[in-house]
Amino acid sequence: MAAIVIVGAQWGDEGKGKVIDFLAQQADMVVRHQGGNNAGHTVVVNDQEFKLHLVPSGILYPNTLCVIANGVVIDPAVLLEELHYLQSRGVDVSRLKISSKAHVVMPYHTQLDALNENHRGDQKLGTTLRGIGPAYMDKAARIGIRIADLLHPEELRERLSRALEEKNRVLTRAYGAEPLDFDALYERFLGYGDALRPYVADTSIIINEAIDRGDRVLFEGAQGTMLDIDHGTYPYVTSSHPSAGGAAIGAGIGPTKINRVYGVAKAYTTRVGDGPFPTELRDSLGDSIRERGQEYGTTTGRPRRVGWLDAVVLRHSVRINGLAGLALTRLDVLDGLPALNIATAYRCREGEIKEFPDTASVLRTAEPVYETLPGWDTPIGQARHLRDLPDNARRYIERIEELVGVPVVLVSVGRERASTIVRAEMF
Ligand code: GDP
Ligand code: IMO
Ligand code: MG
Repeated sequence: MAAIVIVGAQWGDEGKGKVIDFLAQQADMVVRHQGGNNAGHTVVVNDQEFKLHLVPSGILYPNTLCVIANGVVIDPAVLLEELHYLQSRGVDVSRLKISSKAHVVMPYHTQLDALNENHRGDQKLGTTLRGIGPAYMDKAARIGIRIADLLHPEELRERLSRALEEKNRVLTRAYGAEPLDFDALYERFLGYGDALRPYVADTSIIINEAIDRGDRVLFEGAQGTMLDIDHGTYPYVTSSHPSAGGAAIGAGIGPTKINRVYGVAKAYTTRVGDGPFPTELRDSLGDSIRERGQEYGTTTGRPRRVGWLDAVVLRHSVRINGLAGLALTRLDVLDGLPALNIATAYRCREGEIKEFPDTASVLRTAEPVYETLPGWDTPIGQARHLRDLPDNARRYIERIEELVGVPVVLVSVGRERASTIVRAEMF
């Protein structure tokens, strides 16, 4: 009987998909509430890999209701393709609901994402080029198109003509690009509306009813706290609120309905895209962790930047999200390293600081202060209990708990569901 929010505690790709899939064994409902198909959540079941971008990572269980709530931006072509892909692999997708209030990622959004990035040159953000920023911009500018509009031809005609008039002006005058054709776009998106119609609902009602009946509801964060538009490394962030507060607005529930929040953190740190990363390893050790961990983006295939675990980042995450604990993933990737560093503070011009800096200029000068712990030799992928881990792996976990101030409630040592050590019940 609980509503539990799971967020990324770092810069995304922490293994949220694996953790959500594991927890979804006990859940009645899994809800995505922000982001779009910039997310790539990988779930591995019986050696079969599923890459999910919009559909919640609870879809592989036959009885779990899955919801894409109002805070998500949906590219209908991508969603329909994902539904076909799941169906072709024998997954029943009839238990999916999509919010009528979710905004639609339009072709001009993806086009503008690329044009904006190009235009920024070496100031680029390294976005996923999925149109996410421009779609959220239109939502805030009140010229967005919502899923409900796709179901109503007159509404769509009016809203699309207004939006397209402005977009074509920007595309042609600011970028010298070709204008988009109204009729073709209109027909195509009406078609998407027809295809999505069976799934569309007022999902706030569905989610609230589930919580009120005492169902177990999991909120699946996308991206990570350090990519939050308010609390991340602005401007190198995404355009939504991956931190826990985003779940309330993004799903249409009151914050009082959320029982607990947990963060997912890798046992080290990665970041894909540009922007500050104090503990980044720009050497052969970083390359070797990338290779052994196969750290390549789920959505874009880009190599992920790799670095040591950063307790300053994790403490920031604990505070911003009100974390009750951490799920620590990919501990197995550190097998065989003789020594492991954890950043405990940063050294800046102003001296040593324990809190993540709130300005880019301070962050630019931040050098991590490391504590070094001994590594372990034996592979840990088969561990199923804490007692199966080598002493040094246990010591690493305990030290993280001390430095971050919350318990590690789950440890993941492999991609499969079974490769999981449960230390405390999260529901
Ligand atoms: P998400 O975006 O947070 O869901 O994470 P991604 O799916 O983008 O990236 C995490 C990757 O790590 C995926 O390929 C997972 O299958 C994999 N993974 C998750 N947990 C573990 C783990 O404990 N060990 C290893 N070796 N891989 C893991
Ligand atoms: P999951 O849910 C990692 C990053 C991009 C870029 C920045 C802005 O799989 O953890 P955007 O396309 O959102 O405008 O890009 O955010 N980014 C992610 N990095 N994991 C993700 O999602 C990400 N989604 C966006 O690389 O730096
Ligand atoms: Mg990912």
